[in-house]
Amino acid sequence: MTIIVTGGAGFIGSNFIYYQLREHKDDRIVCVDSLTYAGNLSTLAQAMKNPGFRFVRADITDREAIYRVFEEEKPDAVVNFAAESHVDRSIESPEVFLRTNILGTEVMMDACRKYGNVRYHQVSTDEVYGDLPLDRPDLLFTETTPIHTSSPYSASKASADLLVGAYYRTYGLPVTISRCSNNYGPYHFPEKLIPLMIINALHDKPLPVYGTGENVRDWLYVEDHCAAIDLVLRKGRIGEVYNIGGHNEMKNIDIVKLICKALGKSESLITYVSDRKGHDMRYAIDPTKIHNELGWLPATKFSDGLQKTVEWYLENREWWETIISGEYKNYYERMYGNR
Ligand code: NAD
Ligand code: DAU
Repeated sequence: MTIIVTGGAGFIGSNFIYYQLREHKDDRIVCVDSLTYAGNLSTLAQAMKNPGFRFVRADITDREAIYRVFEEEKPDAVVNFAAESHVDRSIESPEVFLRTNILGTEVMMDACRKYGNVRYHQVSTDEVYGDLPLDRPDLLFTETTPIHTSSPYSASKASADLLVGAYYRTYGLPVTISRCSNNYGPYHFPEKLIPLMIINALHDKPLPVYGTGENVRDWLYVEDHCAAIDLVLRKGRIGEVYNIGGHNEMKNIDIVKLICKALGKSESLITYVSDRKGHDMRYAIDPTKIHNELGWLPATKFSDGLQKTVEWYLENREWWETIISGEYKNYYERMYGNR
C-alpha cells in the first residue's frame, strides 16, 4: 500500500516513518510536510535513501498542493500527524493552530473523499479530555470521557477530532482516531520538557520547572505509540477512537530529577518559574480498549526508554545543536527570559 504520512519531518511522524520502512518493507511512504520550525529534513536523511520513500514539501492547508500529491500517488491511506503541537506556543499565538490543526485536517479528509474514499487516520491527543485531579488516582481518561479542553492547542485538536467524526457519519469516510499521552524519545524537538531539560542540563543551564512541578503526565516511548498507530491503521474498527498510553504517570519534578541523575548533574540547576496559563494538572490514559481489541501493549519500560533517550541526545548533538542555534534562541528568550 501507499501511505501518505503528514508531519513526517517532526518528532512522532519521523519515528512512524522509520517504523513503517522497517516493519512493512513493501509499502510506499510519502511524507508531506511544510517544514515549519518543528520540521527537520535532516531527521529523514536515512529514509531518503530508501526507494520506497518520497518527501514532498507541502502545507496541509494548501488544497491544490495536497490534491496534486493524491493525483500523483493514488494513496491507499493517510496518517495525519501534521500539526502545531506545542501548548506554550498556542497560548502565545493561537491562530496558526486553528489553521493547521483544524483546516488542515479538513483539506486532508476532503482529498481522501475526492480520490476514492481513502482510509484516514487522525493522530490526536489525550489533551482533548482536559485534565484530572491529583487526588483521584482512580480516574483515567477512557474513549467516552467528555471532550473538555484547556489550551488553544487542545481546543484545536478536539475540533479536528469532531470534524473527523462528522466526516465518518456524514460522508462515510473510513476514519479512525487515536488519542495518545505524552511521548518521548529520539528527534523530540528541544522546546518540550524532556529534551529541553536534557539539553539545558548538558549546558549547566537552569532547568525551568513550571509552577510547583507537581503536574503529572503519562509518558510513552515514541516507538510504542508508532506500533499502536500501525495496528489501528491496519486492524482498527472504522469510525472508532482508540486511547493509547502506558500507565506511566510521572510528576514533572521527578522526571527532571531523573534526568539530572542520568547526566550526573546537580539538582541545584532546578529553577521553579511562573506557571503555564491554564496548566493541566494530570493526564492519565486508560488503554484497555486497544489492548483488548488489538492486543497492543507498550514494550518499553520508562527507565529503559529514558536512558535510551538521554543516550540518543548525547550521541546526536549535531541534530539538536543546529536547532538550538537558530530561531529557537529567540523563542527561548521570549518564553523563559523574564519568567
Ligand atoms: P512536532 O511539532 O514535532 O511535528 C509536527 C510536524 O508537522 C513538523 O514536521 C511540521 O513541520 C509539520 N507541520 C506543521 N504544520 C504543518 C502544515 N500546515 N502542513 C504540513 N506540515 C506541517 O509534533 P509531534 O510531537 O511529532 O506531534 C505529531 C502529532 O501527534 C500531532 O498531531 C500532535 O498533536 C500529536 N500528539 C503528540 C504527542 C506528543 O507527546 N508529542 C502526544 C499525542 C499526540
Ligand atoms: O499529552 C499529549 C501532549 O503532550 C501532546 O498533545 C502535545 O503535543 C505535547 O507537546 C505534550 O504536551 P505537554 O504540554 O504535556 O508537553 P510539554 O513537554 O510542553 O510539557 C510537559 C510538562 O512539563 C507540562 O506539565 C509542562 C511542564 N514543563 C514544560 C516545559 C517545556 C515545564 O515544567 N517546564 C518546561 O520548560
